[in-house]
Amino acid sequence: MIQLHDLEFTPFISEEEILHSISKISEEINREYEGKILVFLGILNGAFLVASEIIKRFPADCEVNFVKLGSYEGTSTTGNVSTLLGLTQNLKGREVVIIEDIVDTGNTLAAIDKILMDMEVSGYKIATLFLKPHAYKKSYPIDFVGMEIPNDFIVGYGLDYNGLGRNLTQVYKLKE
Ligand code: IMP
Ligand code: MG
Repeated sequence: MIQLHDLEFTPFISEEEILHSISKISEEINREYEGKILVFLGILNGAFLVASEIIKRFPADCEVNFVKLGSYEGTSTTGNVSTLLGLTQNLKGREVVIIEDIVDTGNTLAAIDKILMDMEVSGYKIATLFLKPHAYKKSYPIDFVGMEIPNDFIVGYGLDYNGLGRNLTQVYKLKE
């Protein structure tokens, strides 16, 4: 068990399972984009670890960029997604793979969809390490999913509770 701020968390997903999921996502992306120069777009802060692992495994030329979006306060979503650091690269006509740590309600994806549509990208696909299918309220197809999880609040491997927990190499869930 670990404590972050006022809350206690118990081990939930091992580092081995996480890396196995990332390898699976990578194999799918690498197969899909063979011979194409794509742009990986990581969503900060949470996706920094999973982005580095996926990008390390990509064998061909690619570009890497990040945007910083935020919607969570404490252990729940505010429903409002704000752009904290915007896109600095023109992606018009490009093939993009979005890398997320976790897809929950899908509000963040809706915000990214708008940014990429306004930029007239050629197309994009979504990769996420974790998906909460019972919380997901949008209809964007999620192309590469590492693992589906229940609606628990989790921390570790990039995911935080009020700023803490991102450096944990395995994933913990809120103690009931
Ligand atoms: P969405 O916009 O509701 O899909 O939420 C996406 C973002 O909320 C993720 O990129 C995370 O930053 C954050 N988030 C969602 N669920 C969790 C969780 O269980 N723990 C920590 N952060 C989460
Ligand atoms: Mg995130």
